[in-house]
Amino acid sequence: MKNISIIGGGTMGNGIAHVMALHGFHVQLIDKNDAALQKAMQTIEKNLERQLQKNHINVDQKEMTLANIQCFNEISTGVASSELIIEAVTEIESTKMEIFRLADLHASPNCILASNTSSISISKLAEATKRPEKVIGMHFMNPVPVMKLVEIIEGKHGSKETLETIVKLTQTIGKTPCVVKDAPGFISNRLLMPMINEAILALQEGISDAKTIDDIMKLGMAHPMGPLQLADYIGLDVCHNILCILEEGFQNAKYHPAELLKGKIDKGKLGVKTGEGFYKY
Ligand SMILES: NC(=O)c1ccc[n+]([C@@H]2O[C@H](COP(=O)([O-])OP(=O)(O)OC[C@H]3O[C@@H](n4cnc5c(N)ncnc54)[C@H](O)[C@@H]3O)[C@@H](O)[C@H]2O)c1
Repeated sequence: MKNISIIGGGTMGNGIAHVMALHGFHVQLIDKNDAALQKAMQTIEKNLERQLQKNHINVDQKEMTLANIQCFNEISTGVASSELIIEAVTEIESTKMEIFRLADLHASPNCILASNTSSISISKLAEATKRPEKVIGMHFMNPVPVMKLVEIIEGKHGSKETLETIVKLTQTIGKTPCVVKDAPGFISNRLLMPMINEAILALQEGISDAKTIDDIMKLGMAHPMGPLQLADYIGLDVCHNILCILEEGFQNAKYHPAELLKGKIDKGKLGVKTGEGFYKY
């Protein structure tokens, strides 16, 4: 495998492009928005510089990584020579279905189509293509250059060959693959989001304040970050969307998002990205 296209140059897309290019792959980074592509390249350069300062990489690796990334606006041209496409656009099912349809239309027949979705069914995305056996989930964690896990999701139509290729690739880029079956929220968000929602419910009920709730999980359970602070980093809108997908997918009201979470979103307090969530930034 030499050529990898990443569709979506936001938080996750630029991180995935960074890691793939650093490991010698030729990356075609595709985003419909020029400003997003410019920002992605600036972020990658800044993050490479940080790795260089820490002696994690050398100057040649930094230059090679930047030279390995080419930017595109159109999926049709950006995926033409790819052997793997990783979709990392906004978490909206209809948007992703359309991207998978287009990627399938323009990519070579052997190309594998992966999604970085946090919660949308891989089997459903596969159904937008004529190659469902080549569709798989590659759920990277944020920040991608730092986090070791890639949750690999096997769709119900996926082939063993596709899975083996993606597991091997994940190891090649220095990450640890953990393979799970396709189910709402997979494993990571099925476990994480109910904990975050429960912390929000406890805050809403006045059981304690945000800092104390977070301290209990940090000091008592050795979590590096408390659930409310983590929710702020993920984005409260993103947490809300994933909880809705869990509630609908399992038809179970236990996943229903807390009122306080909805209230914060209505006020535009989405966490770190808007300067305020459960904390001020
Ligand atoms: N942010 C996280 O912590 C995190 C962690 C794991 C997985 N994810 C998943 O990764 C995916 C991307 O999330 P993100 O946080 O990087 O989002 P983001 O909003 O930072 O970036 C999304 C990018 O997709 C682009 N885009 C949207 N529609 C497009 C289209 N039709 N064609 C081309 N580009 C398009 C946007 O211009 C934007 O640059 C989502 O599925 C999300 O659930 C996010």
